[in-house]
Amino acid sequence: MWKKWLGKLGGTEDKSHLYQVLNEKRIPKHIAIIMDGNGRWAQKRGMPRAFGHREGAETLKKIVRFSSDIGVGALTAYAFSTENWKRPAEEVGLLMKLIAEYLDGNIEEMHQNNVRVRFIGKTEELSDGLRHKIEKAQTRTANNTGLVLNLAVNYGARTEITRAVQLIASQVRDGLIKPEDITENTIQQNLYTGDLPDPDLLIRPSGDFRISNFLLWQCAYTEFWYTETNWPDFTPELLVQAIIDFQNRERRFGGLKK
Ligand code: FPP
Repeated sequence: MWKKWLGKLGGTEDKSHLYQVLNEKRIPKHIAIIMDGNGRWAQKRGMPRAFGHREGAETLKKIVRFSSDIGVGALTAYAFSTENWKRPAEEVGLLMKLIAEYLDGNIEEMHQNNVRVRFIGKTEELSDGLRHKIEKAQTRTANNTGLVLNLAVNYGARTEITRAVQLIASQVRDGLIKPEDITENTIQQNLYTGDLPDPDLLIRPSGDFRISNFLLWQCAYTEFWYTETNWPDFTPELLVQAIIDFQNRERRFGGLKK
């Protein structure tokens, strides 16, 4: 399927060598992305930060299409953290608007591509209007069996883990489970991503090397990949490079070399 992207990746240089080394049998089941560097991208061009976010939303569209096409199982994209409320109200408002526009403008295409859209985070704190769109998008795509797109909005991993602890404590209080029966699996299942495998690969563009309160539990053995490129300039070609690097890494999960 991904071969149809050959020649569509921009630039004149032949990209076919990238595909030839992509092992179709080891495509990551779950990729997490911190969509960083939108503000810097805009500022470098003398534009307001909003332009960077807008362009970042365009990049997300391309990456979702491409990931779906090459058979990635799940893509979790960090769109707005529980800490991002500290930003000026104008920027927060713009980001919320972009998320709403993203749903309005893309849900049908994603549905046609068998993408299942889900939101992770405290969506109950978002505006009624946005929550309504989220509900509609999730319901529309609920039965799709292709790529699971998790959009992390008002998401923070510490909040997610705290919520899991609260859910488990309620189950103990109600006599459904005993404290000694709580396992790592119990915690994993009570996270927003409980039904998904942990990310195989975490991509952070824009040259920062932080996890920024993203998927802390789930990333215990995730392979990290960084690039200096800001998110608005991120391309399917860079995703291919990240996947090739991932495919050439040896994952030992604390064990020894095979
Ligand atoms: C971090 O870069 C990015 C964000 C806080 C927002 C990410 C949002 C989008 C890509 C668009 C909207 C989302 C969807 C789902 C359509 P930054 O702004 O902190 O960049 P900087 O570090 O260069 O300032």
